[in-house]
Amino acid sequence: MIKQMAKDDFIVSKTDLKGRITYANRIFIDMAEYTEEELLGQPHSIIRHDAMPKAVFQLLWDTVTAGEEIFAFVINRTKNGNDYWIYANVSPSFDENGTIVGYYSVRRMPNQSAIAIVKPLYKAMLQAEKTGGIAAGVKVLTDLLGEKGVGYNELIIAIQG
Ligand SMILES: Cc1cc2nc3c(=O)[nH]c(=O)nc-3n(C[C@H](O)[C@H](O)[C@H](O)COP(=O)(O)O)c2cc1C
Repeated sequence: MIKQMAKDDFIVSKTDLKGRITYANRIFIDMAEYTEEELLGQPHSIIRHDAMPKAVFQLLWDTVTAGEEIFAFVINRTKNGNDYWIYANVSPSFDENGTIVGYYSVRRMPNQSAIAIVKPLYKAMLQAEKTGGIAAGVKVLTDLLGEKGVGYNELIIAIQG
């Protein structure tokens, strides 16, 4: 079943440097259909959906480990096998010396028109990854960005509208 985020909700989680969940808000826990105990300490990939191209997560990690924020549309899989799309901002957390100490993500309801654009894009990226690996998935995305003459975050923000 496809579930929808409520319009005014925020799904929030924090991770350590390895992407293990250190905090999840109540809405996260309810949407993911796990208990808090089942989530804390687990890798964030616990809710990974196999419709997500690997290239998106590579870009996510490359960006946040470089100290920058990233926006992304992500489909997640709940404990009971339900699916939900989110529009995420993922950012590093810094200590007072500017060292990255973890990451956090705040997610909102994606626009349906955005999902209609992202679905075929992810399908094409996944298809490319089957034969050409992550690099082929990245190429589908960078070709699109080149065609549009925009950066990745710029495109994602524009799609959400
Ligand atoms: C703050 C933060 C939030 C994340 N949120 C999600 C998420 O909601 N869903 C997801 O599949 N991956 C999320 N990830 C990415 C995962 O860490 C992981 O890279 C991804 O699930 C792919 O897993 P895999 O490399 O084991 O295939 C998040 C990472 C960080 C740092």
